[in-house]
Amino acid sequence: MSAPKILATGRCLPERVVTNEELSRQVDTSDEWVFSRTGIHNRHFCTKESGLDLAVGAARQALERAGLGAEDVGVCLVATFSPDFASPSTACLLQKELGLKEDTVCFDLNAACAGFLYGMKTAHALLADAPRPHALVVGCEVISRVLDMTDRNTCVLFGDGAGAAVFRRDEEAVWHTVFGSRGDAESIMVEGPGPVRSTVHMDGKAVFRFAVEVVEKSIRQLLEAEGCGINDLDLVVCHQANARIIDFVAKKLGAREGLFYKNMDRYGNTSAASIPMALDELSQAGTLKPGMRVLTVGFGGGLTWAGALLKW
Ligand code: UT7
Repeated sequence: MSAPKILATGRCLPERVVTNEELSRQVDTSDEWVFSRTGIHNRHFCTKESGLDLAVGAARQALERAGLGAEDVGVCLVATFSPDFASPSTACLLQKELGLKEDTVCFDLNAACAGFLYGMKTAHALLADAPRPHALVVGCEVISRVLDMTDRNTCVLFGDGAGAAVFRRDEEAVWHTVFGSRGDAESIMVEGPGPVRSTVHMDGKAVFRFAVEVVEKSIRQLLEAEGCGINDLDLVVCHQANARIIDFVAKKLGAREGLFYKNMDRYGNTSAASIPMALDELSQAGTLKPGMRVLTVGFGGGLTWAGALLKW
């Protein structure tokens, strides 16, 4: 058994901050409605930045903090459902920008908001016989490009951003993971690429029910695998879709106050970027310390979900 040892993280956000108040001038909504239903006040939207710009910013930070160079990376994956191009992948463009070697395994994967954890699992497996022992995994989204800014049901929920992690295989360490998918095209759908402008559609209530079910189930499975209780963990980092989803699950599991991290107030739902962005915030704040037991869970379109319990 081996586990990924995260060496460093990074994050990059577009400059422009969009407040609930600003959105309330475009659609019939209010800061009070959005914050009380979701925990979101602000999000960042790209204006001049591309998804690649965000991915490069987050990846460079992570590599620099890990004390590694382009020549050390053997696997480079980008989790995204909102890439700049259907092809080439953001991972290949990132390879060029960073100057990663030609034999680096580079591709994008799409597991929506569970994408970063799918990326970690895939990269960890690929590292077994990769040319070099380090993987770069980036969650990167420009969701503003697929939002219908006249639809108040969706346009207030999402934001743009990127988070990155650099890790190597630790042959001694153990991690536990859970993955799942439901083959559901109705609850969340993003059209395109095609002749029509791609937009997000979501049945919020159905996704809410799905989320609280699979997040609780995943956490219970991971705790059982580890043989510990919820309050033996040091931190729980869930996908940052909605504060009410997190609070509901935390209460159901009897978690102590503050165990579940929340930062959607500043970023909204950034899909595949939300977990690595949160890990980076926590790491930079000094909250995450070596040896801590950290549980993460992602969930979203597909409908997909993924959880991992690892040692920081
Ligand atoms: O990252 C992928 C995973 N996604 C999620 O986890 C999202 C899960 N779902 C949710 O977070 C919540 O379901 C939402 C935040 C999307 C919606 O909250 P809700 O409490 O389920 O509200 P609702 O959709 O039932 O809407 C309640 C009311 C409706 O009005 P009526 O029909 O009761 O008159 C909506 O039209 O709120 C209305 N509404 C709004 N009002 C003001 C919907 N959006 C807005 C808005 N501002 N932005």
